[in-house]
Amino acid sequence: MAKVRVDTGCSKAEVYTHGAHVTAFEKTGEAPLLFLSEASEFHGDKPIRGGVPVVFPWFGPREGMPMHGLARLAEWSWVGSELMPDASVTLRFRLPADGRYEVDFVVTVGAVLTMELLVSNTGSGEFRFENCLHSYFQVGDIHRVRLIGLRDLRYRDQLSGEEMLEAGEAIRFDSEVDRIYQDSGNLVEIEDPVLGRVIRVHKSGSRSTVVWNPWIAKSQRMPDFGDEEYLRMVCVESGNVRANAVTLPPGQRSSLRVEIDSVPAT
Ligand code: BG6
Repeated sequence: MAKVRVDTGCSKAEVYTHGAHVTAFEKTGEAPLLFLSEASEFHGDKPIRGGVPVVFPWFGPREGMPMHGLARLAEWSWVGSELMPDASVTLRFRLPADGRYEVDFVVTVGAVLTMELLVSNTGSGEFRFENCLHSYFQVGDIHRVRLIGLRDLRYRDQLSGEEMLEAGEAIRFDSEVDRIYQDSGNLVEIEDPVLGRVIRVHKSGSRSTVVWNPWIAKSQRMPDFGDEEYLRMVCVESGNVRANAVTLPPGQRSSLRVEIDSVPAT
């Protein structure tokens, strides 16, 4: 499958045209920031397991249609690349044309990884959609991870179907977690004392944050995911889901932008 490899000297990344899927980003001298499953199938009919699947135009299941939308299964065009003055590299991908919308995905690889999903309504009526940059992060040991930045938010627990309120300062993991946080702010931090770093997820144009770890039983059920891999990943997904779905008037464009960075743990 075709992929673009970028090496900027301070970082490296890989992006497949299948799904415009970023599968790798690492800073020189540091463990990879993104998790990619060793069991992932690289096949035109399947989404890649790990990295950053682009979820669009719906999130989750939809009867008779693929889970998490069409974008992660589509073959995108690589329409250009540009070396920026700060030595970062910008890659632009485009989803095959649809009468109702135009979608570009712009990936900038530098000291940080920046991804922007741009959706333009080219139709004559309103276009309502969900989107999500379903980012899988690599962690040293999920038992030791703390997620900061979601306190006091309402969330839907996807496992029980209940609406809940996040009371704790930090989210910790000791069982399966699958939650959609609504009206979230612009920064979520993943504290990882084992790899000695804090991964920072900065976002704009995103009102939802999805947090997911499949834990033991679901890992065993997923054919493209190793039984033990849940121990070294966590998904912190930035997007607009359910009540936060985007309604775009004709002629308008929306931007979902996510910047991924890391700093040493203190
Ligand atoms: C998450 C969902 O975003 O994606 C989970 O909240 C789901 O419910 C997970 O299991 C993975 O989905 P998929 O289709 O890539 O297996």
